[in-house]
Amino acid sequence: LNRKILISLIIMIMTGLSVAVSAQELPETMPNGVAAGDATQTTVVLWTHSTETGTVGFEVATDADITDVVATAEAEVEDPLVPVKVLVSSLEPDTAYFYRVTDAAGGNVVGQFDTPAEPGTTTGLRFGVSGDWRGELAPYPALNNTVERDLDFFLLHGDTIYADFPSPDVPLEQALTLEDYRMKHNEVYSERLGLNAFADLRSSTVIYAIFDDHEVSNDFAGGAPPSYDERFASYDGEFVNDTELYQIGTQVFYEYNPLEETYYGDTGDPLTANKPDLYRYRTFGSDAAMFIVDARSFRSEPLPPVADITDRAEVTSFLSASLNAERTMLGKLQFEKLVADLQHAQELGITWKFVMIPEPIQNFGSLNGFDRYEGYAAERAALLASINESEISNVVFVSADFHGTVINNLTYQSGLRDLLSNTHNATSAFEIITGSVAFYEPLGPTVIQIAAGLGLIEEELADSYFEMTPAEQDDFMLELINAQIEPVGYTLVGLNDTDLIDAELIEGKYLATNFFGWTEFDIDAESQALTVTTYGITPYSQEEMEANADEIIARTPEIVSQFVVQPQ
Ligand SMILES: [Fe+2]
Repeated sequence: LNRKILISLIIMIMTGLSVAVSAQELPETMPNGVAAGDATQTTVVLWTHSTETGTVGFEVATDADITDVVATAEAEVEDPLVPVKVLVSSLEPDTAYFYRVTDAAGGNVVGQFDTPAEPGTTTGLRFGVSGDWRGELAPYPALNNTVERDLDFFLLHGDTIYADFPSPDVPLEQALTLEDYRMKHNEVYSERLGLNAFADLRSSTVIYAIFDDHEVSNDFAGGAPPSYDERFASYDGEFVNDTELYQIGTQVFYEYNPLEETYYGDTGDPLTANKPDLYRYRTFGSDAAMFIVDARSFRSEPLPPVADITDRAEVTSFLSASLNAERTMLGKLQFEKLVADLQHAQELGITWKFVMIPEPIQNFGSLNGFDRYEGYAAERAALLASINESEISNVVFVSADFHGTVINNLTYQSGLRDLLSNTHNATSAFEIITGSVAFYEPLGPTVIQIAAGLGLIEEELADSYFEMTPAEQDDFMLELINAQIEPVGYTLVGLNDTDLIDAELIEGKYLATNFFGWTEFDIDAESQALTVTTYGITPYSQEEMEANADEIIARTPEIVSQFVVQPQ
C-alpha cells in the first residue's frame, strides 16, 4: 500500500464517512487534480488543469459513482499550462454533488461539493480559512487534516503564490511573464515528495479564493500611479491596476482558481472600469453570510513607513495622515457594496457575518501599518462606524498575511478629534488572523528579529526567545504585542470586552505565532454558537523539508487555539 491509500483507509475507518474522492492517485496529465468553487445556492465553477490538449468533459451527479448525472459540460485545452473551467447552473440548494472530470488523454478525477442552503433555515456550517504558502515549502502538510474535517468550503486567503520570491520551479526574484506566473501557480498545486495536500483539499469541498499582494508583487497598491514604485514605473497606465504586470498576475490568478471571471463594467471611474471584480457576497442558510473583499486592486498609494516607532511626532504624523478621508483601501465602489450587503444580511436575519479581508484590520500600531487597514484609518473607521450605526450583529473579520494567529476585538478613531483626545470607539466586531499554510519563519520569530533589529528589545532577550518552548514563546509574543499597542490606547490581544462579546477560550491563547496551519469556523445548527479552532503543525524550513521529508509530510495538525463565541 502506498502512503496515500493507507491514510485514506485510516480516515475512512476513523470517520466512517465515504472519502472515496480524497487522496486520489492523479493522472499524469492532471497534475493539480480538480476543484469546485465560487458556489452559490444554484451554481458552481468546476476546474481542472490538463496538460493534454483537447476536450475535457465535466459530469455532475448526485451520487459518488456518477450515475445520476444532472449536468454535463465541456471545455477545450489549448495550452498545457492553462487550466479550464465551466460554470454549472440549475443546481439545487443544500444538496451534495459529485463530479467527474475526464481529459483528452482519458485520465479522470472525481470531486465533491455541497451547495449552500437558502436563508430562512439554520443547518449549521463548517468552513476553513488560511493563506500564505511559499513554493519552496510544498507539499503543505499543514493541510493534512482538512479533508477529514468535512468542510462546507475552504477560503484560500491570499499570497497563494509568492511571485516575488524564487521557488524551485521559477527561480526568479520576480515573476514577469504569463508563463512565469502560470508555473508559480502550477507549482503550489502539484505533487511533491508523494503528497499533494492542495489537490486533496480542493477536490473535497467548495473553494473560494482571493488574492493579496504576492499574486502580483509585495505590498503593491493597485490604485496608486505606476510611478509610485520602480517595479511598476516602466509600465503604461494611469493606475498600477492598468499595468501589464497587474493584468498578468490577476489573469493567472483567475486561470488557476475555480472562480467565475467577473469584471466591473463601465463604472464611469477609471480606477474600477473593466477591472477584475473579485468581491463576493454569499449566504449559507441563515447561519452565515460571507463577504470576500479585494484589498489590493483599488487601494490608494501607501503612506511612507514609520521609520522610528518610538518617535511620538513621527507616529502622530502617520496616524493623522491615515485619517485622510480621500484615501481608500477597498475603493469607493467596493466599500459601498460591502456596507450595503452587510445591512442586507442583517435584514435577512442571518446570524454571523464573516468579512474576509486578506490584510488585518485590527490595530497593531504604526510599525508596518502603512500596508494594513490602519494605514487607511478613515475608511476603516467608516466601515466600523457603519456596523455600529446599522446595529449589524455578529460581525467577524477574517484575515491572513501575518503568518500567525492573533485575535482581538475592534475599536476605531473617527477623526483627528478622537486621535487628539485618545478616544477609541468600541464595536462588537472582532478579528481573527489565520495561517500561514507555509511561510518560514512564522510570525513569532519574525517579530522577534524585527524588534531586536530596531532596538525595541535587547539582543539577549531575543536570544532567550529561541530557547523557549512554543507556549512560552507565545506568552512572550503576547506581552511584546500588548506592550506596543497598550500605550496607544488599543485594546489588548484577546476577546476581553465581555459586555460586547460573549466568548470563552477553550484551548491555547487568543494568539498562536509559531506554527503552520489553518483555522476552522463551526456554527452549531441549534444554538448558533461559533467555535473557532486553529490547527497547526510545527513549522519547517526548506532545508528541514529536504533533509527530513517523510517525518515532516506525516505531521498531523493539532489544536493550537480554540474559543467559542455565543451570538448576540
Ligand atoms: Fe504572506
